[in-house]
Amino acid sequence: MRIDVFSIFPEYLQALDLSLIGKARQKGLLEIAVRDVRDYALDKHRSVDDTPYGGGAGMVMKPEPWALALESVLPQGAEGQAGEDAPLLIVPSPAGRVFDQSLAYELAEERHLVFACGRYEGIDERVYDWAGAHFRVMPVSLGDYVLNGGEVAVLAMVEAIGRLVPGVVGNPMSLVEESHSDGLLEYPVYTKPASWRGMDVPDVLLGGNHAAIEAHRRAEQLRRTASRRPELLEGRSAADLSRADLAV
Ligand code: ADE
Repeated sequence: MRIDVFSIFPEYLQALDLSLIGKARQKGLLEIAVRDVRDYALDKHRSVDDTPYGGGAGMVMKPEPWALALESVLPQGAEGQAGEDAPLLIVPSPAGRVFDQSLAYELAEERHLVFACGRYEGIDERVYDWAGAHFRVMPVSLGDYVLNGGEVAVLAMVEAIGRLVPGVVGNPMSLVEESHSDGLLEYPVYTKPASWRGMDVPDVLLGGNHAAIEAHRRAEQLRRTASRRPELLEGRSAADLSRADLAV
């Protein structure tokens, strides 16, 4: 998968050199390029913002540096209406579709993702209209709160998406058993010692009865989901929910 990230603070994205995502880049599973929007500015001050028409607080990002930046990652001759195979331009914004695990799975299928990190009061609206002719454009929010810019949202999204790309996570079973993979929260986990500061690991986990362990974990998942995130259980079958009662 190819990922291009545009930002005026490329240093923010240095965390993508680390850990699993960094290793996946080294292995060539993820081809990630981080680019500075100021490199596409037209004046010697490398300015990328200006005052808003109509007045108001703050500054707005100028259209031309953004258009030049985004154009630089388009395949040659990619003009006209963006088709199904056009790169997907993700614009982190609190006004976008809320990012969740199912969107992460959807985006992990893409060949080329481009992230445009806005700062200040945002990017001139005409950039999105222009971009619609070359990219599929998707505003995406990390959640209902406001960040200072898109960079932190991109770090979260690239990590969540990147780890779903085949080969990035060494043991694919880790992806099956984690929170949200089946719409439920993850079951609690324990390691040695079996007894610690007066608290014991549940007996069932100490025996080798795999069916009992699986039933216990499923019930714990349901119980934890019901107590922390009850809205995730809406629409689930009564049979499934009643298994939560089995947890001891
Ligand atoms: N930029 C500012 N706030 C954001 C949010 N909640 N999600 C994504 N990008 C943002």
